[in-house]
Parts: sequence; C-alpha cells; structure tokens
Amino acid sequence: MGVDMMHVAFLLLIVFTDGASSKTVCSYQDVLDHLNLTTDNSVFKLTRPVLDYTHPTMVELDIILYAILAVIEKTQTFIPFIWATMIWNNERISWDPAQFCGITQISVPRDMLWKPDLFIYEMIQKDDSPLNPYMYVSHDGMVISEEDMKVVSTCKMDVHKFPFDTQRCNITIGSAIHYADEMRVLPFSNSSRATQFSREVMKTQGEWEFLQLSIASYNFTFNNRQWEQLIYTFTMRRRPLLHVINFLLPILFFLSLDLASFFIADHRGEKLGFKVTVLLAISVLLLILNDILPSMSNKTPLIATYCIVIFALMLLSLLETILVTYLMEKDSASLEKLRLRGDWEDRQEKVKIDNYNTEEKRQTCCSCICKVSDGEKQHEMLPVAEEVNNSIQSGESHVLLLILAELKELQKTLNLHLGCREERGQSGHWAARINRVFFIFYVTTVSLFLSLIFTEWNT
Ligand SMILES: *[C@@H]1O[C@H](CO)[C@@H](O)[C@H](O)[C@H]1NC(C)=O
Ligand SMILES: *[C@@H]1O[C@H](CO)[C@@H](O)[C@H](O)[C@H]1NC(C)=O
Repeated sequence: MGVDMMHVAFLLLIVFTDGASSKTVCSYQDVLDHLNLTTDNSVFKLTRPVLDYTHPTMVELDIILYAILAVIEKTQTFIPFIWATMIWNNERISWDPAQFCGITQISVPRDMLWKPDLFIYEMIQKDDSPLNPYMYVSHDGMVISEEDMKVVSTCKMDVHKFPFDTQRCNITIGSAIHYADEMRVLPFSNSSRATQFSREVMKTQGEWEFLQLSIASYNFTFNNRQWEQLIYTFTMRRRPLLHVINFLLPILFFLSLDLASFFIADHRGEKLGFKVTVLLAISVLLLILNDILPSMSNKTPLIATYCIVIFALMLLSLLETILVTYLMEKDSASLEKLRLRGDWEDRQEKVKIDNYNTEEKRQTCCSCICKVSDGEKQHEMLPVAEEVNNSIQSGESHVLLLILAELKELQKTLNLHLGCREERGQSGHWAARINRVFFIFYVTTVSLFLSLIFTEWNT
C-alpha cells in the first residue's frame, strides 16, 4: 500500500517536471515586450516607420464595394459603403515567430502605431460609422488595417438619359501630405478581381445595378511636387422600372386620353373641360420631376424634353379645341339667326293659315248662316251640296297645312337635338376640317416624337 502511494507520487512528479520543461508559455505581451511596444512609447507613432528616410513607405490599398446606399441626383451625392484594407510596411517591427511559440501576428490598438494619412478627396462629410479599434501586426513588419466606412462623396452625374442612365462615380484616395517619393499608394488587387469580389460581397444595390469597379493610378502634380493617388471608379446602372411606372407611363396614358378626346362630340364645351383636366394632371407629374432632377445640368435631360414636348402638344390640342369650339359657336349662332328668320316666316305662314282659318270659319259660318237662312229652301238641294263639297275641300287643304306646320316644328326640334349635323354653316365646315387636319398632325407628331426619344434613350 505504502509502496503504491510512493509509486503514484513519483509518476506524478515525473509528469509535472516533464510538462514544465517541454512547454514554453508565450503570450502576445511577450512579443510586445520584445518590441518595446507600449502605449507611451512614442517611437512607433511619431515618424514614418522607416530606418532610412530614403525608403518610401509602400501602402497597398484594397477597396471593395459593400453596398450602394444612395445616389442622389438632386445634390449630386454618391454614398457607397466600402470596405477598405490598407497594408504597409513598418521597418521598426520584426520578430522571429520561432522564439514566440510561432506567433506570426498580433493585434494592437490603432493608436499605438503610425498610420498612413490617406484620405478621400471627394468625401464631403466625416464618416461617423464606428471605427475598427485594432490593427494586425505581422512578424515581418507588415501592418494591416481594415475599415468599413460610409463614404458621402460628391459625384458629377450626367442625368441626360434619366431614368435609363449609367453613372460613373470616382473615389480618389491619396496621402494628405506625403509626396510620391515618400509614400507610394498601390492597388492590392486589379480591376477585374475587385469587381468580382465586390459582386460577391454586395449586400444591397437598391435602385442601382453595380456594373464595374475599375482602378487607376495617377500622379497628381502641383508646384513640382507629386502625390500618388488611386482612383476607384464605380460604374452602375439605374434600374428604371420604378420611374417608368411612376412617371413615363402615366404621361403616355394622359397623352392617349388626350388623343381619345378627339372622338368626344365638339359642342357644349365637354371636350374642352376634359382636355383642361388632362393638362392639369400632367402638370402635377411635372412637379414630381422637379423633385428628382438637379437644376444645374448643362445638357437638357431627355425626360424634360419628353415632358415639355408632350405638354406643348397637349396645350396645342387644347388651343385647337378652343378654336373649333369658337367656330362651332359662331356657326350655331348664325344658324340660330337663320332659324329665327325661319321661325318668323313660319309664323307669317301660320298667321296666313290662321287668317285662312278665320276666313274659312267665316265662310263656314256664312254657309251655316246661309244654310240656316236658307233653311226653308230645303228643296233646293244642289247649292247646299255644292257648299258642303266646297267646305270639305277647303277643310282638307287646311288639315294639310296644319300637318305641314307640325312637320316643320318637329324638324326644328329634331335639329336642335341632333346638334345640327346636317345644317352646317361656313365656319362649321371649317371647324370640321381643322379638326381632321389637326388630328392627323397630332397623331403623326406624337408617334414621330415618341419613336425618336425612345431611340435616343436606348442608345
Ligand atoms: C523601451 O521604451 C522606453 C520608453 O518608452 C525606454 O525608456 C526603454 O529604454 C526602452 N527599452 C528598450 C529595451 O529599448
Ligand atoms: C508616380 O510617381 C512615382 C514616384 O515618382 C513613380 O514611381 C510612379 O511610376 C508614378 N506613377 C505614375 C502613374 O506616373
């Protein structure tokens, strides 16, 4: 029993001593201690980290587009969300990973080391997204810094083809003060790789379809000094569906309504009211356009041309309707005069008839009187029969005249109700002709214009 205990204790001792001897414990702090890298060691912060000042610091930059947050035409602002990686060389840092249990890189707070003073030339607003607090430091002196940032940048946009446009926005990155011989700025990956990588990680595109990210290097010269810059160009195409549904189609609908209104009957001002309503609807749509497009565009946007021309055409058709209505009005006025004269003639005729009637009556009366007076001479049949015959004949013509008068009255009312189709005066004919010619002109102009503008939009 005692021997067993001794044995176990011995074995344990062997295990412990063995472990302690073979395992060297390493921590990141050991590396920092080796480097003498502390928060209050200003050696790492003050100057460009080269041992010989003629060595340029090579900064490699990689930018990937995460999302297109907004493209605002009105203020010419482009807001992408990018992921920027900077890699540069710090000649003061190096260690042998073999001495530190194979530690090849450590992360340190950002403000412990010198950082390149890169900035974005187009940026108009300070980035307020939270900063990544650490950077990686490798054993060979490479420092890697990664940042996600929302860049609010200006971008000169060409809205000529809005909403079928493609925009190109630049982000230029360079050192704020270091010259090209002190600090080089180099792209980490080429254009096609950056494009492909951006496509893979792209989160939201919204209205815009990301097409390409291209990278160019450029030396900016001023006062015989050179600064090296990298220019990232983002190319994206607008998805026009919303604007087509919201804007282009409604205007076309109103235009077709205006075309259809040519088939509304001209009289009584209905057509005029209808056209004015359609024109008002279009002007409301024009207000929307004013919200979207910037006013400082030197090349007129096609959509403005589209609106103005259609608006002008509809205005022209409204004016034409006013003219035609005026002519019709004039026509109907002259017709009314004619009719009044006709009425007067009718009345004359009526008076004549009435006169005739009274005469007739008198005659009949007379004949009656005659009859009565000649009552006793009933044996004399012939004159009485003649008288009756006479009265029947005159009665027939009287009825016929009455029927004629009735018919004339009926025709008049019918004419009134049918809108005097048949009775057109001189100006009425003109109105019809103008209407026809203008309709043909209108349809031709509209179809020509629409085909022209859509081909322009397409190219
Ligand atoms: C480490 O840096 C401190 C100053 O921060 C300095 O006083 C000290 O001498 C340095 N040690 C070595 C070994 O370089
Ligand atoms: C910019 O200047 C640097 C340093 O003078 C030079 O190495 C580089 O080739 C130049 N780049 C361009 C695009 O001219």
